[in-house]
Amino acid sequence: MCEIIFSRIFLGFPVLLLWMAGGPTHAACPIELNPPRLVVRYGDAVSVNCSTSSTDHEGMGWEATFGGTGLEEVNFVIWNVENLTDWTIQPKCYITTKDGGQRSKLFPVVLYKTPDSMSISVLSHSGPMVEGREYQLQCNIQSIAPLRNLVVKWYKGNEPLDNVTYSNASKTPEDVSPTLMIIPSKDDDGAQYKCRAELDLGPEGPQPHPTVTSEPLTVTVHYKPRINVSRLTERIPVFRGYPEELVCEAEGYPQPRIQWHYDPAKPVSEAGGNLTVFEAGLYNCTATNDVDTSFIVVEVVLNGNGTFIKLY
Ligand SMILES: *[C@@H]1O[C@H](CO)[C@@H](O)[C@H](O)[C@H]1NC(C)=O
Ligand SMILES: *[C@@H]1O[C@H](CO)[C@@H](O)[C@H](O)[C@H]1NC(C)=O
Ligand SMILES: *[C@@H]1O[C@H](CO)[C@@H](O)[C@H](O)[C@H]1NC(C)=O
Ligand SMILES: *[C@@H]1O[C@H](CO)[C@@H](O)[C@H](O)[C@H]1NC(C)=O
Ligand SMILES: *[C@@H]1O[C@H](CO)[C@@H](O)[C@H](O)[C@H]1NC(C)=O
Ligand SMILES: *[C@@H]1O[C@H](CO)[C@@H](O)[C@H](O)[C@H]1NC(C)=O
Ligand SMILES: *[C@@H]1O[C@H](CO)[C@@H](O)[C@H](O)[C@H]1NC(C)=O
Ligand SMILES: *[C@@H]1O[C@H](CO)[C@@H](O)[C@H](O)[C@H]1NC(C)=O
Repeated sequence: MCEIIFSRIFLGFPVLLLWMAGGPTHAACPIELNPPRLVVRYGDAVSVNCSTSSTDHEGMGWEATFGGTGLEEVNFVIWNVENLTDWTIQPKCYITTKDGGQRSKLFPVVLYKTPDSMSISVLSHSGPMVEGREYQLQCNIQSIAPLRNLVVKWYKGNEPLDNVTYSNASKTPEDVSPTLMIIPSKDDDGAQYKCRAELDLGPEGPQPHPTVTSEPLTVTVHYKPRINVSRLTERIPVFRGYPEELVCEAEGYPQPRIQWHYDPAKPVSEAGGNLTVFEAGLYNCTATNDVDTSFIVVEVVLNGNGTFIKLY
């Protein structure tokens, strides 16, 4: 379909003109474009052949901010640009018919560019993260076009987390900063987050899709101490006068400090979290790091059957 710009015959009959342009009897467009449309990287060369089968025209040409031609009495005319850098270019091929009318066809061209830079940052936070808290990762994408063809993909390692798309119709390069909310667990310590900008420009676009990936962001996740209770649940016979060793082991990041307290709050220290007990009573092991303190209380009963009883 092509646009009728001007027709001497129908001057003064706008209603009829409208009917001619949109009606079913409208003659086939005499203009053919080869290729019919293009996806071009910013700064690349383009060459489009506009030809006509019409033999009774008075001339044809290209109208464009770059590479436009004059009216030529030929059957094809090439639109040639060595370095396409006009983001909003709308090239049109037109033909002037003998009746003084003019027809034109818009050449659909999509310009794209990959980002100048891409990086990930953590919003309003620096240093190690803490398990169970919320953080916002931000992907900073500088100067990409067009936004409506952009898919931003988030990854943790190679695992896809989220895809972000845009409906913005802007044709010129834009900066975008999509965010991803994460709640890291202790297993995420050392995880690498990445974001990737992919331009899906359709079947006419380049394959594979032009893609730029950020450097990975490695997160450090601190987590609270977890006391290994399996070390304290055993039934061990304790006889009066014979010492027994209580083993308090905790895992945490940073490495927790272990401290035993004895009935009710007297600190009893011994290196490494092991405590040799001689007396009955309540023993409280606390494991402390930057994140939190965990504790476990054991009761030591001294009799012929010595027993450890856990209390929470
Ligand atoms: C342009 O297209 C016409 C019609 O298909 C063809 O005859 C002509 O050779 C083409 N010109 C170029 C330079 O490809
Ligand atoms: C294309 O044009 C841009 C902007 O005018 C310029 O920066 C670039 O160097 C040109 N590239 C070529 C290959 O001519
Ligand atoms: C993102 O899109 C890709 C296809 O391009 C798909 O394989 C993946 O599952 C999507 N991820 C999410 C989290 O939707
Ligand atoms: C969306 O497009 C409008 C203009 O079309 C522009 O002002 C705005 O900044 C764009 N949004 C983004 C996120 O780039
Ligand atoms: C807890 O202690 C048991 C017994 O010594 C051991 O097998 C297990 O690996 C420990 N668990 C952790 C998480 O360190
Ligand atoms: C504490 O006791 C356990 C079990 O007997 C032992 O494996 C560990 O090496 C001890 N730790 C220290 C610091 O003595
Ligand atoms: C054990 O120590 C923790 C941490 O200091 C404390 O909150 C808790 O009350 C103590 N429990 C007992 C029974 O002493
Ligand atoms: C020792 O344990 C056995 C069984 O577990 C029980 O029958 C006995 O009464 C206990 N002895 C003492 C002194 O508590």
